[in-house]
Amino acid sequence: MTKVRAAVFASGTGSNFDAIMKEQSALECDIVLLVCDKPGAAVIQKAEKYDVSTFVCDAKSYASKEDYENEVVKQLEAWQVDWVFLAGYMRIIGPTLLKPFEGKIINIHPSLLPAFPGKDAIGDAFRAGVDRTGVTVHYIDDGIDTGPIIAQASVPVLPDDTKETLKERIQVVEHELYSRVIKQLMDSNK
Ligand code: GRF
Repeated sequence: MTKVRAAVFASGTGSNFDAIMKEQSALECDIVLLVCDKPGAAVIQKAEKYDVSTFVCDAKSYASKEDYENEVVKQLEAWQVDWVFLAGYMRIIGPTLLKPFEGKIINIHPSLLPAFPGKDAIGDAFRAGVDRTGVTVHYIDDGIDTGPIIAQASVPVLPDDTKETLKERIQVVEHELYSRVIKQLMDSNK
């Protein structure tokens, strides 16, 4: 049976990309492409280490978001990508990309959604003084961090936590949860 082909989208460090790649043989899918909108981002070197092809481009060099997303869709089609895993991709997915991949784009977010959506979820939770936050894997819809939730894991905020120590513990949970969810989705889509 042919394996599902997936692309990871990331804009930064790529620790989640790295965690997915380490588990790839167990995931029942091939990560065939990294899409990165930040030339120079550390995740690009990680992809090279794993011999994963990259499509790196500066979204701002396109005349419009639609043009940029049309190019991304073209790349996904050329690589025959079935699923998209967002892992620290700092752009909102617009209709041009969402429509052809609806129900096949998932994201990992560092809070217990619907609490703390947006770009600085860990900082927002930390400043709010909650004693528990966590991680959510969800489908992408046309809102910001609003799509149907697939799985969540909670992380306590400890009395002596700083934002940085909290982030470290959240990322450990992210790396385990994302691979687990991807495997479950691939198994149920067989
Ligand atoms: C993660 O915390 C993820 O939840 C969020 O962006 C961060 C990416 O981190 N969407 P990394 O680049 O995978 O280390």
